[in-house]
Amino acid sequence: MHKITVDKEFVIGDVERDVWGSFIEHMGRAVYGGVYEPSHPTADAHGFRGDVTDIVKNLGVPIIRYPGGNFLSGYNWKDGIGKDRPKRLDLAWGQLEPNEVGLHEFCEWAQRAGSRVMMSANLGTGTPQEAAQLVEYCNFSKGSYWSDLRRKNGREKPFAIDTWCLGNEMDGDWQIGHLTAEEYGRKAHETAKLVKWVDKNVRLVVCGSSSPGMATYPDWDARVLRHTYEDVDYISLHRYYSYEEKGNEFDLMSAHADFDAFIKTVSATADFVKASLRSKKTMKLSIDEWNVWHTRPVFHCKQVYNDNDADRWTVGPRRAENVYDVTDAIALGGLVCAIINNADRVKMGCLAQLVNVIAPIMTQNGGGVYKQTTYYPYAMAVAHAKGTALHAAVCSDPAECIYGDTQKIYAACTHDNGEYALFVVNKSDKEEDCALRFASSSVAMVSRTELTGGLHDYNDFEHPNRVVPQNRAVEKEKGQSYSLRLPAHSFTLLRFAEK
Ligand code: AHR
Repeated sequence: MHKITVDKEFVIGDVERDVWGSFIEHMGRAVYGGVYEPSHPTADAHGFRGDVTDIVKNLGVPIIRYPGGNFLSGYNWKDGIGKDRPKRLDLAWGQLEPNEVGLHEFCEWAQRAGSRVMMSANLGTGTPQEAAQLVEYCNFSKGSYWSDLRRKNGREKPFAIDTWCLGNEMDGDWQIGHLTAEEYGRKAHETAKLVKWVDKNVRLVVCGSSSPGMATYPDWDARVLRHTYEDVDYISLHRYYSYEEKGNEFDLMSAHADFDAFIKTVSATADFVKASLRSKKTMKLSIDEWNVWHTRPVFHCKQVYNDNDADRWTVGPRRAENVYDVTDAIALGGLVCAIINNADRVKMGCLAQLVNVIAPIMTQNGGGVYKQTTYYPYAMAVAHAKGTALHAAVCSDPAECIYGDTQKIYAACTHDNGEYALFVVNKSDKEEDCALRFASSSVAMVSRTELTGGLHDYNDFEHPNRVVPQNRAVEKEKGQSYSLRLPAHSFTLLRFAEK
């Protein structure tokens, strides 16, 4: 018998809305053939697919990181404004960038989809001055060269972009213009200085390690923060999971354990720098790329569309089009729980990505759209993981996984306005009984939604609803204790109300 105890007095921290952000990069079919397809039957007057916009809008994505990713580090934002749009080779992903979608088009689409934009400035080939000009173009009201150019290009009011990334994954040699920690730290500091002189209200994200697998991790994070600690508000973390060598499904579903350790190490590293600089500020974490990503064929996900395929130098080639199954969705549910369980430090996040590229939403050029299995745990988090995060104390059978000892059951809980949202992962291959207790309130169950299925079941255009969450009957009686039966291999959201 497993046990979960929740006490609303035991608060971890506030769950910021922006932790449930997402990411759209000029990569593969994320933009061209994803959100943007002028010839599509549902296209709006601006060439964006109405069917995709509707899904994003209903999902309620608070913030979308743009325009990359690795693409960013070779991108000149000036190519994406005004009338003359050059076609460029995108060296990051080996595809052709027509620049039909640029800053105006994307920001206005995001607004129609109900999302804010988290803009990224190129610190690969880009300079601090170009970053400052970009901020002036987006945020300065009028009367300067770049703000007036924006107005001339059709946008009178500033875009008012409040959150900015200082480059992308600058620790990796795959990055265009890769830098050492000292070089990047200095460049990020100079850029932050100029950007804040243009707009002192922006929130800045500095690049932390692109993965805990990097040889420079976590030294990179400490060195970069030494240069930028007082300039920035967040340090970024990126993390993708797949099957490790010799790893199995249970291991992948246990990725939350590794994710939690990564978050804690970056927090500790930032705190070490805080102490050495005698700073009063606590650094926030922005996990602005997280997901499951299979870069090698696994099970049903046979064609992973790596970047060396026949579509090279075309617009919107297939890149990283993973097909996600139930195992992937449960793994992602575990990552959602780890984010909630670290709500005191994780204040921003982006599921990478949103459409077609390692994405919960998949489109067919000229055709339909469907939701992958991973859409659902993400959507449950966006809709219900809000307010404050509470400690969900779990007592469960220990089990070994490649990340060390973990438990078969993993959970996280939020509390908002008298309502609890409890997210529970059952990694066991059996139904499991679980005793749930609310230590300081009597509550009634409001809803119970389960996502489960065969471990390798997946959705596709022919079977878009093979894996969808099921709503189960709820116990209406108010109480402090509940007996739950959790389906094998499942991600469950239980909602309870105090009133
Ligand atoms: O999200 C896909 C890619 O993964 C991004 O471009 C890069 O930042 C990361 O390596």
